[in-house]
Amino acid sequence: MTTAAATPFDLRTDETLKMLADSGQYKHLHELDSPMDAVVRMVGDDGKAREVLCFCSNNYLGLANDPRVVDAGIEGLKKYGAGTASVRFICGTFTPHNTLEATIARYMGTESAYTFVSCWTATEALFPTVCEPGDLILSDELNHACIIDAIRLTPVIKKGVLKGVYKHADLNSLREKLTAARDNTEVTGQIWVITDGVFSMEGAVADLPGIRKLCDEFGAMLVVDDSHGHGVMGPTGRGTHEHFGMCPGGAGFQPANGVVDVFTGTLGKALGGGAGGFVAGSKRLTELLIQRGRPTLFSNALPVTVACSANKAIETLLDEPQRVERLRRNVAKVRKDLAAAGFEVMDSPTAICPIIVGDTAKAIAMSKKLLDKGVFVIGFGYPVVPEGTARLRIQMSSAHTDEHIDRLVEAIKSL
Ligand SMILES: Cc1ncc(COP(=O)(O)O)c(C=O)c1O
Repeated sequence: MTTAAATPFDLRTDETLKMLADSGQYKHLHELDSPMDAVVRMVGDDGKAREVLCFCSNNYLGLANDPRVVDAGIEGLKKYGAGTASVRFICGTFTPHNTLEATIARYMGTESAYTFVSCWTATEALFPTVCEPGDLILSDELNHACIIDAIRLTPVIKKGVLKGVYKHADLNSLREKLTAARDNTEVTGQIWVITDGVFSMEGAVADLPGIRKLCDEFGAMLVVDDSHGHGVMGPTGRGTHEHFGMCPGGAGFQPANGVVDVFTGTLGKALGGGAGGFVAGSKRLTELLIQRGRPTLFSNALPVTVACSANKAIETLLDEPQRVERLRRNVAKVRKDLAAAGFEVMDSPTAICPIIVGDTAKAIAMSKKLLDKGVFVIGFGYPVVPEGTARLRIQMSSAHTDEHIDRLVEAIKSL
């Protein structure tokens, strides 16, 4: 039998993987053999599982393993089976989808919401659907990869949609782009400004009041991906707009109409941690996504069991604002303790606390040493963050205790 010759793909891929391994940048997938929680069981190279403290999940409110959230999923599975076996518009819209979308709209204070299998898909559905030739999309340079790719895709699907990038969190840069658009005869339609509410790698917060003001001045629509703000920001965990008091909190919570035009978000972080994403905004917007969104028309619905769990997670968040308060306390403690230990940490209310180390291999090596001490924190390097800004990204949860935080800080101090 003759062996097949290596293809160009084989050769270049082997080279890339070798380069990653030789330079210490190769990512190993850590295997967990327990639910996501403050403490998880990790399977080691010897095949044995041991407990480690988890400071790298997006389980901000500890709901991923909440018995009520788990039970809701089990009940959904029993009642509705494994899946829809259909896209939504054929026969894939089940009662839990409508229930979840009503809950998301109530939580976000919007007229309407529509779900997708992920926030990535939601974002990829949004821009190519709502934009038309002559529209311009302006995006913060550090926005999440799903936004970047969705914007890249939009003019491929709708020729004539324009795009631009403004400097990270820089209102002057955004104003310059908006002013230039005013003089650009190719911009004949809607201008869209898109920003993360909480930036995923920095834990920085977008200046939503400032961006909103500019949008109003230039007639632009504001889109906010608040995947890391939901459950975290604002007194009742509604998100970054609530943090800025752009809507009243608690029982007096008012619709976000006119505050943020469109929200995108994930159900895979604080809101249950399963999977799924959503777009929330006007009824007109979600109607258009249902009629014209390509992922809506050609891809399956969110699994029903996941919809049931996510719905229970959001209801629990709304019923138990003390979880948000506990998270806020933990976030303040870890930042204070790390600063006292001599580390430079940005003052921020978000649950993301990076320690910048520069070199990717160094970040990965530090993460490995922490794991040897029973503390699970991931090191991020290029291409996830810009070259030279590799970091340990600590993520906090309301499920962490003071003792967990003390152990984390001691382990980092000992590196
Ligand atoms: C800001 C932001 N948006 C979107 C996503 C994607 O969410 P999903 O996992 O639901 O696709 C992430 C996930 O890392 C994120 O951090």
